[in-house]
Amino acid sequence: MFYFGYRRVAEAEKVKLVQRHFNTVARKYDLMNTILSFGLHHLWKRRAIRRLGLNPGDRVIDVCGGTADLAILAARAVGSSGRVVLCDINRPMMDAGRSKVTGSPSSMQIMYVQADAEQLAVADESFDAAMVGFGIRNLTHMDRGFQEMHRVLKPGGKLMCLEFSLPTAFWFRWLYDLYSFSIMPLLGKIMVGSWQAYIYLPESIRMFPQPEQLTAILQEIGFSRVTHRRFTNGIAVVHLGMKHTSRKEEEINLSRSGKSSIHRANQR
Ligand SMILES: C[S@@+](CC[C@H](N)C(=O)[O-])C[C@H]1O[C@@H](n2cnc3c(N)ncnc32)[C@H](O)[C@@H]1O
Repeated sequence: MFYFGYRRVAEAEKVKLVQRHFNTVARKYDLMNTILSFGLHHLWKRRAIRRLGLNPGDRVIDVCGGTADLAILAARAVGSSGRVVLCDINRPMMDAGRSKVTGSPSSMQIMYVQADAEQLAVADESFDAAMVGFGIRNLTHMDRGFQEMHRVLKPGGKLMCLEFSLPTAFWFRWLYDLYSFSIMPLLGKIMVGSWQAYIYLPESIRMFPQPEQLTAILQEIGFSRVTHRRFTNGIAVVHLGMKHTSRKEEEINLSRSGKSSIHRANQR
């Protein structure tokens, strides 16, 4: 079963609808993000990168990197000896962020690859960190996206997933629902000429797993030491994890998540 927001769609249709959505919003994506989040997305991104704890010289992949906010922050953290590969399926989104990249002092560290997050055209175990910001929700098979991030990480490599979620306080949730389903699409209509584009956003957030469920998904995929932290009462959540450093750690992790390695091996 595949969903585009609340709509049930065929597998092939989901990819097309997501592409069309980002084609529509690309030019105004950054501006809309800043308006709709009252600028908070910059704070969440900075805090997420800080928590990822990058080191000078690290190689980082930014999956669903879009207009490059996370890539720019990561490039700053890894310094001149590090590298950031920004990977996104949508050309207009990458183009919309180009001027920010070229204008940043770390532009030489950032490379672009247009690719599907579910099939990354990069070698196994080639990155120290893999991150995805507000992108995994859009994939047709979220698990494949995470499996790919796991595959390209070196043993001991770090994962960071920043994604929207829902406020935990009842009153805030009520306000947020009101805001999401009335103000957001209205601003979408005014700013990008599409009510529908900004209905997809709140709907897809509500279809996305809760932080505890996402933790379990990441553990099943093989990430260990998975933790999460809510920002702004849960509107955004950062998950961190690590690719096992040894066979033993992988076994412990799998048994904790209720899966045997034999079961996993059969799934591959
Ligand atoms: C909401 S934007 C997030 C952009 C950026 N990471 C940020 O934090 O602002 C989601 C991005 O995911 C990309 N995307 C969606 N499906 C994808 C896929 N299958 N493979 C790679 N990128 C994808 C979109 O093109 C879009 O640029």
